[in-house]
Amino acid sequence: MLNRLQREAIARLWERKLGQDLQKLPQSERHRNLEPDSAEFICALAAGCHARRLAEIGGSSGISTIALAEAARRSGGSLTSVEIEPSRQLEAKNTIASLGLSNWVEFVLGDAADIIPEWHELDFVLLDCEKEDYINFFQMLNLAPGAVVVADNILSHGLFDYVAHVRMRSDVESITLPIGKGLEVTRFRPR
Ligand SMILES: C[S@@+](CC[C@H](N)C(=O)[O-])C[C@H]1O[C@@H](n2cnc3c(N)ncnc32)[C@H](O)[C@@H]1O
Repeated sequence: MLNRLQREAIARLWERKLGQDLQKLPQSERHRNLEPDSAEFICALAAGCHARRLAEIGGSSGISTIALAEAARRSGGSLTSVEIEPSRQLEAKNTIASLGLSNWVEFVLGDAADIIPEWHELDFVLLDCEKEDYINFFQMLNLAPGAVVVADNILSHGLFDYVAHVRMRSDVESITLPIGKGLEVTRFRPR
């Protein structure tokens, strides 16, 4: 689903992240990114669901932003990308512009806790921020019937409280997929 240029941009960001990990830079200087396989998956999933209102919480330097912007382009929708750290978001913005995807992305700088209440009837959300915020942010989302929420790092960080929390609901189906660091894919039943 991603094209060659998009895959190359993702590969560059991923190589840099692996290099930073190898150098054991302080956590604050490392870019944390979604795994390329997970990026491929969320692009195909969001496009396959024809999601038109997409959002990501924790855009960082933009691997997931590329994936979801391409899905938004295919569905004729738009992606809102929230990031709290300005230099990471600026880099993502430049990458998205270089790939010709700016028309499909709105970048919002700030704390997702302040921004989520402005969102309505979302079709697709990626949770990829601090793990202790997942449950609270999930609860705050205003979602359309049939919406899909994907959360990263489920297996790498053992986020089983989050998994149990979403699965308690009677109006969702949810599954953990062993892609990348583990994705929880939660689908709200259509009305
Ligand atoms: C794992 S990284 C995201 C990786 C990104 N999705 C990608 O594919 O490259 C997590 C990001 O979430 C951001 N973040 C953490 N808490 C946040 C919050 N409350 N609101 C917005 N961004 C947040 C961090 O600054 C960090 O850049």
